[in-house]
Amino acid sequence: MKHITTVVGATGLLGGAICGHLRASGLPVRAMVRPTSEPGRVARLEQAGVELRQGDLKASSSLEAVCEGARALISTATSTVSRQVGDSIQSVDLEGQLALVEAARRAGVEHFVFVSFAPMDVDFPLQGAKRAVEQSLMRSGIPRYTILQPTYFTEVWLSPALGFDFLKARARLVGTGRGRLNWISFEDVARFAVGALEHPRAWNAVLQLGGEEALGQLDVVRLFEERSGRAWTLEHLAEQTLREQFEGATEPLQRSLTALQLHLALGGPVDPRPAMEAMALRPSRVRDYVERMVSGLSGRD
Ligand SMILES: NC(=O)c1ccc[n+]([C@@H]2O[C@H](COP(=O)([O-])OP(=O)(O)OC[C@H]3O[C@@H](n4cnc5c(N)ncnc54)[C@H](OP(=O)(O)O)[C@@H]3O)[C@@H](O)[C@H]2O)c1
Repeated sequence: MKHITTVVGATGLLGGAICGHLRASGLPVRAMVRPTSEPGRVARLEQAGVELRQGDLKASSSLEAVCEGARALISTATSTVSRQVGDSIQSVDLEGQLALVEAARRAGVEHFVFVSFAPMDVDFPLQGAKRAVEQSLMRSGIPRYTILQPTYFTEVWLSPALGFDFLKARARLVGTGRGRLNWISFEDVARFAVGALEHPRAWNAVLQLGGEEALGQLDVVRLFEERSGRAWTLEHLAEQTLREQFEGATEPLQRSLTALQLHLALGGPVDPRPAMEAMALRPSRVRDYVERMVSGLSGRD
């Protein structure tokens, strides 16, 4: 009987957490890795008892072995951050993911979970790729699909690496900082991705994932200020500047990253309740993240 779950994107932030949850439940997991994947991440997968198979979304011939004998497949892969020569939105996020859907269908995979993102009003290449893969998966004939559409990951977008520097109590806000989003922890997205395998209400469904509360970046600054007692220094990246950058960007990745920032500036709440009800899961709150980060800071003093 088929019982393996294959994770494509396992060396990434979300895919690694998904592998961790699956292994913690004692389930057999296979991960697709590349010769260029970060060795520490590959070693962690191996130590967790994950079976490793070499493959690349750009090499459709490698996908057969990755899908072979798998009951379920979860794909989180994207070229937006972890890029090698030849990786692009076109070759990985679009053509590679389409090839993976086809390989999974041919191999008889019963359930395909695809991590996309919540719809945004702006049209840009990464969103075009995600929607095309969603459509292809829905029409693929694979018996079960789950399309997860998370909003922005808390730990990524509200982090010092992206200018939200709780270590130094300063932030570069995108736009006015009032655009409201249902931020979600990547750990919660991982729990939803794994939960989708077992909850029939998540089968053949498109589910938006977000925290229950929609907050602007300024609201999150206030939460940090209240919890830590430190006043923050703020700068703003004007919405108009972003619009000009977006209009001027010709390279697909640059255009996509600017579009994501523009959406962050404008905000766009989603309805996370259907996913929560389908899987009986409740995402953590941004204030839980604030609490963790501030107590981590006091632990360093
Ligand atoms: N960050 C957010 O706020 C956010 C919000 C909503 C949705 N999402 C979605 O969440 C998903 C997971 O994001 P993440 O932060 O976990 O991404 P990540 O950390 O950048 O991981 C990307 C993964 O994709 C793999 N990959 C890239 N090119 C590949 C190729 N040619 N063949 C095979 N694998 C390839 C990478 O493998 P290597 O290690 O080998 O390079 C890595 O495992 C993405 O689909 C993203 O669009 C993210």
